[in-house]
Amino acid sequence: MADLIVGIQWGDEGKGKIVDVLAKDYDYIVRYQGGHNAGHTIVVGDKKYALHLIPSGILTSHCINIIGNGVVIEPSALIEEMRQFGGEQALLGRLFISDRAHIILPFHQELDSSLERAANAIGTTKKGIGPCYTDKIARIGLRACDVRNFPAQRESIIARLQERVRTLKESNILDSSLEELVQASISSLESAHTILSPFITDTTSLLWEAQAQGKRILLEGAQGSMLDIDHGTYPFVTSSTTIAAGSCAGSGLAPRDIASVLGIMKAYCTRVGHGPFPTEDGKEFGALLCEKGAEFGTTTGRKRRCGGFDALAARYACRLNGCDKIALMKLDVLDGLEEIAVCVAYQYQGRKITYVPSDLENATPIYEILPGWAGESSKGVKSYDALPTNAKAYIARLEELVGVKIAMISTGAERSEIIYRYDCAI
Ligand code: IMP
Repeated sequence: MADLIVGIQWGDEGKGKIVDVLAKDYDYIVRYQGGHNAGHTIVVGDKKYALHLIPSGILTSHCINIIGNGVVIEPSALIEEMRQFGGEQALLGRLFISDRAHIILPFHQELDSSLERAANAIGTTKKGIGPCYTDKIARIGLRACDVRNFPAQRESIIARLQERVRTLKESNILDSSLEELVQASISSLESAHTILSPFITDTTSLLWEAQAQGKRILLEGAQGSMLDIDHGTYPFVTSSTTIAAGSCAGSGLAPRDIASVLGIMKAYCTRVGHGPFPTEDGKEFGALLCEKGAEFGTTTGRKRRCGGFDALAARYACRLNGCDKIALMKLDVLDGLEEIAVCVAYQYQGRKITYVPSDLENATPIYEILPGWAGESSKGVKSYDALPTNAKAYIARLEELVGVKIAMISTGAERSEIIYRYDCAI
């Protein structure tokens, strides 16, 4: 059976840290959607690792790491990331890439950047994610199996590339010439073939086999539920299914293979890029969260928008994902506050609602004020009982509002700064 970890907010909840601390209990760690738009920062001792495509299980030596078919891969970004862990030789047998995963090519990235110059920009990471998924859905994308077969099928692949780039050039949206874009794509495919081929395989069969042997599998979501292509704040979303349902499509496992779902949420909210964010605080509170929480993107370095906890968005996301339990992250960032505002309802079309509407931009938050624990600290606390009384009350109120038990509480960036409640294995 497989367990699943998903982001409950707008991404950057701290999924990487939780995967990292739980990895010891698993044999396989699987990424199943998104691409190098994702960014997980993991702190181990005095070393800080930035992961974008490689599953967070890479830091646990016995774990096998899988980049599933639902992921979109920019080869040079992956190769660069592999270097942090000793490069190809060190990773053989520990990292596998689905032969069905789609490949991000240079024109996807240029297209993403060009579209972001338009008035209706999304605030994307400009990594080519949306354009690559567009090609996947349009059934004209290139996959990792094409990377592996590149020398044998060179002519037909180049013909496909030329056709795609020609169509894009006709819309006058790309600055580089057709020749430049095709040549850059060929170079990318050539180096990808040389370096990545030994890692490319049928990861669906690999996972089925692992499952048959009773191996323990952990699926690692990227981004957050509020960025889901269907259920998020469309169009200000990413281009994949970020909720639990995407884990099967993106890995080849079946819904009945999923044993449990752990949702990850911060004790407050953040978002990068444009789009509705009801509890965003452009004043002192938001600035304090940003500074204390070091809320800057791992991938783009952008300053994250910050605000109070949105219980409606979290409850909505927990229902979408079927969360069994929650890990609450960055509780310590709220240390020092006299009181903490939590969104418990929205004002929407002249009335008070307690659901998430499809046009969230028209909702304004209604807050409940909870007492803070100024003068006491949760930083680095490792047992629930040792938390300040009001911090425990805050956690209890979030559980009540969201409707799911909080099983883990993170009180700092370090692996060890974590509280386990109930049974910690999800
Ligand atoms: P894209 O995924 O680059 O197309 O960006 C679409 C939206 O998702 C933008 O608002 C991005 O800022 C946001 N986004 C993408 N990946 C992440 C992530 O890992 N964390 C937080 N936001 C993300």
